[in-house]
Amino acid sequence: MADIKETADALSLSAEGLPTIVWYPGHMAKAKRLIADNLKLVDVVIELVDARIPVASANPMLKELIGKKPRLIVLNKMDLASPAVTKDWIGYYQSQGLAAVAVDAPGGRGIKGLVKLTAKLASGRTRRLENKGAKARAPRAMVLGIPNVGKSSLINRLAGRVKAKAENRPGVTRAKQWIHIEDGFDLLDMPGILWPKFDDPTVGLYLSYTGAISDEAIDTEPVVLHLLGWLRKNFPRDLITRYKLELAEGETLPEDSMALLELIGRKRGHLEKGGIVNRDKTKKLLLKEFRAGLIGKYTLDLPPEKTEARETEAEDNGAGSKENRVNRKFAAGGAGQRPAP
Ligand code: G4P
Repeated sequence: MADIKETADALSLSAEGLPTIVWYPGHMAKAKRLIADNLKLVDVVIELVDARIPVASANPMLKELIGKKPRLIVLNKMDLASPAVTKDWIGYYQSQGLAAVAVDAPGGRGIKGLVKLTAKLASGRTRRLENKGAKARAPRAMVLGIPNVGKSSLINRLAGRVKAKAENRPGVTRAKQWIHIEDGFDLLDMPGILWPKFDDPTVGLYLSYTGAISDEAIDTEPVVLHLLGWLRKNFPRDLITRYKLELAEGETLPEDSMALLELIGRKRGHLEKGGIVNRDKTKKLLLKEFRAGLIGKYTLDLPPEKTEARETEAEDNGAGSKENRVNRKFAAGGAGQRPAP
């Protein structure tokens, strides 16, 4: 698995102890050049984003990099995201004139639709080129995305064998080889690695929640405390159910995330001598279970001006108070206010 720590020039911590990704301009320019070189070879770009964080896992420069070339947005890891919000995201992309599809690359869901859409987008371009006198050839596509988004998993799935291995540097691809995808197109067998956004603190946080920034690279404590705060505000019932947190009539989850962490650790029996909660073990448990979708299937980034799906989901989840509804909009990372894809 490629890791953002290995691709970033530096990973610093904000005043709150949250990870901030730093890229140097020279490194970025080189990565852009390498991607641009590969882009010349293809008719369509398959842009992978993480369905749980379509904003944080997207590269804001991609549009500029690919110009007028058709692009298909693939919301990967759909099995871990909220199905309702994934549907909203697809509707949103389509409203922006972009083709989009949701998939679970290792599981295979959505792959047939992806092949069909890619072939359609790519062949439109090759036909136009042929009409202008270019030699007939199979349409060509390439996969682009930030580290850990599932590029290798998707290429392997499409190729039907274990093949793709990404280099750990943005934009880098090895020797070029093409995989023929039946009824579809030729796929560049090496993905292009993009870098995530770096100027938005929420990005570092969300990439840590999902594990795209590895736990070894950061202090996980502030990350887990933020995550618990987000879950408590938006989906308290999921936490209560998963960790069997028995609350008395009228009692709510502790406001203090550290107290909530300790409550969960105690319930799971993660205790040291003297009955002290082993926070480290509890933090690891929470991150592991969140990433595996065991607490719930969540989408942290919401499409612009589309909060209804989250509202309904959260209300069903015991977070229906007015205060919680307000908090949710902020907890969702203000995706609606972030730049459109
Ligand atoms: P990359 O090339 O973009 O860096 O990503 P890669 O395919 O290596 O995938 C990163 C991790 O995400 C892998 O897990 C992979 O199995 C998982 N993954 C990819 N697509 C999906 C998906 O649609 N759903 C789910 N649930 N997981 C997905 P890993 O723990 O690093 O490795 P492993 O479990 O495959 O051994």
